[in-house]
Amino acid sequence: MQPKLIIHGGAGSSLKSKGGIQAVRQDLHGIVQDVYDRLAAGASATEAVILGCQLLEDNPRFNAGTGSVLQSDGQIRMSASLMDGAAQRFSGVINVARVQHPIDLAAYLQQEQDHVLSDYGSAELARLLGCPVYDPATDLRLQEWLEERSGNFTREMAGVVAEGEPIASEAGRGTIGVVALDQEGRLAAGTSTGGKGFERMGRVSDSAMPAGNYANPQAGISCTGIGEDIIDECLAAKIVIRVTDGLSLAQAFERSLTEAQQNQRDLGAIGLDRTGAIAWGKTSEILLAAYHTGARIDDTLEWVNQGLVGTA
Ligand code: GLY
Repeated sequence: MQPKLIIHGGAGSSLKSKGGIQAVRQDLHGIVQDVYDRLAAGASATEAVILGCQLLEDNPRFNAGTGSVLQSDGQIRMSASLMDGAAQRFSGVINVARVQHPIDLAAYLQQEQDHVLSDYGSAELARLLGCPVYDPATDLRLQEWLEERSGNFTREMAGVVAEGEPIASEAGRGTIGVVALDQEGRLAAGTSTGGKGFERMGRVSDSAMPAGNYANPQAGISCTGIGEDIIDECLAAKIVIRVTDGLSLAQAFERSLTEAQQNQRDLGAIGLDRTGAIAWGKTSEILLAAYHTGARIDDTLEWVNQGLVGTA
């Protein structure tokens, strides 16, 4: 089977500078190429998803791992999940701190009896596995938090896309995600986030729920956007189940994104199905996604005012 791959680095409201677009494009395309090379060399869908999430978590441009936004109390707490579509098994960590790759903890939990851990349990697991203590904060995220603090917390969310140059004016929709189809026809999906930024302590992200990350043998989906909106739509699981019940991936996206728009949600999603179809959708203005069709790499960075759903 021809492997397929799609990744995202969040959704947002604007791409202001062409230089910014090119920088994001270069980063996303580079990661797509690296991960696709592994798939082409025989890596499993779950291995590809884990690698893609690690690379995106390491990139300070995106709101996951290094470069995560700070919560209302000035701390970084991250959430991540992995879904092995072939096994139809979900695992994840919620509000974990001081680790470099939250996705690694989610991956470890695939083989455990307990599949989802919250903050305290995630910290214990990181200690058990000997994960080095790691500070994912960047100067930019700290500056954003300090600015907000001096403004008496008037902003609802953090800017989560730009590192260095202002390519997004405001967001809070940052997340990273990867969906892969391997040579054996197996699907997997992974999603990781620093959250919404300035959120209340203990707030739980969609990224470590089946609402934000879901896969089965038929389809795999990773979401980005406002977590509360994604949870209310139960978006990832809804799209996957619609494909399982007979809709094409494009039809499942179209129906689900139309409902989300009617409900005034602010979100985006990427996905693959078992036939190799690639689709994405958004109610936000931009979606920072890139994909490999097996023949070429392309992206959605300039895909604006073209409807709710795109396919490749
Ligand atoms: N979608 C990421 C979050 O809201 O936490």
